[in-house]
Amino acid sequence: MVSSGLEGVVVADSHISYVDGQAGRLILRGHSLEQLEPWTFEEMGAMLWQRPLTGLGEARLRVAPWIRELVPLATHLSPIEWLRFALDRLPSGTSIDWVAALGVALALRRNPQAQPDPGLGHVEDVARMAGLTGSDGLRRYWVCVAEHGMNASTFTARVVASTRAGERAAVSAALGALQGPLHGGAPGPVLDMLEVLESHPDPAAWFAQQLRDGQRLMGFGHRIYRVRDPRAEVLRRACQSLPGLQQKLAFAEHMETLATQALSAHKPGRVLQTNVEYYTALLLDALGLERSEFTAVFACGRVLGWLAHIFEQEAEGRLIRPEVRYVGPMD
Ligand code: ACO
Repeated sequence: MVSSGLEGVVVADSHISYVDGQAGRLILRGHSLEQLEPWTFEEMGAMLWQRPLTGLGEARLRVAPWIRELVPLATHLSPIEWLRFALDRLPSGTSIDWVAALGVALALRRNPQAQPDPGLGHVEDVARMAGLTGSDGLRRYWVCVAEHGMNASTFTARVVASTRAGERAAVSAALGALQGPLHGGAPGPVLDMLEVLESHPDPAAWFAQQLRDGQRLMGFGHRIYRVRDPRAEVLRRACQSLPGLQQKLAFAEHMETLATQALSAHKPGRVLQTNVEYYTALLLDALGLERSEFTAVFACGRVLGWLAHIFEQEAEGRLIRPEVRYVGPMD
C-alpha cells in the first residue's frame, strides 16, 4: 500500500524558495534566511512577489469596517477559522486586500474597536491594534515564516490556484490546511510541555517516558530537515532580542538539548531535531498572544508565500491532477 504523503515527489519548478533539508538551509529567491532577518514585512513581500506591496495601509483601512461587522457573528470560531470566515466574506478585493484582511482580522478579534493607521508599517499597525507588547518580535517572526517551499498549506493553495479558482479561494483553502495539528499547530502544545517541565524533578526522564508512551515531542521533527530547522535559530535569536525573556529562554534551550538527546536515543535511525515551532512558542507568548491564536498569527505571515506561489501557479502552472492506484475490487 502506497501512503507516501508525496514525500520526495516534485510537483512543480519554482523560483520562490529552496528548502535544503540536508544542510539545514532556506534560500528565498537567492537570499539566505539569515540575510533577511532585518527586513520589513513589506520588503519581504516585495521580494517574494517581485513587485511592491503598494497600498497595504489603505487596504487595512478598506477591509476593517467589513471585518468589524463580522466579529460578533464569529465568537464560536477558533482564531484560524475566524480568519477564513472574515476573508471569505469580504465583498471583493485584490492580493493586497487578502494580506491586509488577515492581519486586521487577527487584531480586531482581540480589539474590535481598533482603527488602522495607514501611515504605519503593516507589522507595527497590526501589533498596535492587537495590543501586543511590541512589534519587532512579530516582524522577525513574519519575515522568518513568510515562505517555506511546498508545505501542505502552500501545496493546497497551488492546487486550488491551478483550477483558476482565484486568489481568495486559494488562500482560504490554505488556511484550512493549516488548521491541523501536524502543520502549524505545535507551538501551543510546546508551551504546555515547557510548563509541565518547569515543575518536573527530572525532565530527561519525562522526555524518555513520553517517547516510550508513543507520544510525539512537539516542536521537534520535520518532513524535510534532517538537521536543525534553520528557522529555529533565527527565532531563538528573536527571543534573545526581547527584554524579560532571558530566563525562560535559557530554560527552553536546556530543554531543547534534553529533548533532542531523548529523541536520538529513541530513534537512532532518524534525525529528529528542533523545528520552527519550538521558539515560535516562546516568542509569540512573550508578545502577549494566546496559545489558541498562534496558528492564525503564523497564517498572517505565511500569506505572503502562499500568494507568491498562487501567482507562479497562475502564470506558469497546469491543472494539478495526480492519480491514485486503485487497489479495490474489480467488477
Ligand atoms: N516526537 C517523537 N517521535 C517523532 C517526532 C516527534 N516530534 N517526529 C517524528 N517522530 C517519529 C514518528 O513517530 C515516526 O516514527 P515511526 O517511523 O516509528 O512511525 C518517525 O519519527 C517518522 O515520523 P513521520 O511522522 O513519518 O515524519 P513526518 O515527516 O511525516 O512528520 C512531523 C513530520 C509531522 C512534523 C513530525 O515530526 C511531528 O509530528 N512532529 C511533532 C509535531 C510538530 O512539531 N509539528 C510542527 C511541524 S513544523 C511545521 O508544520 C512547519
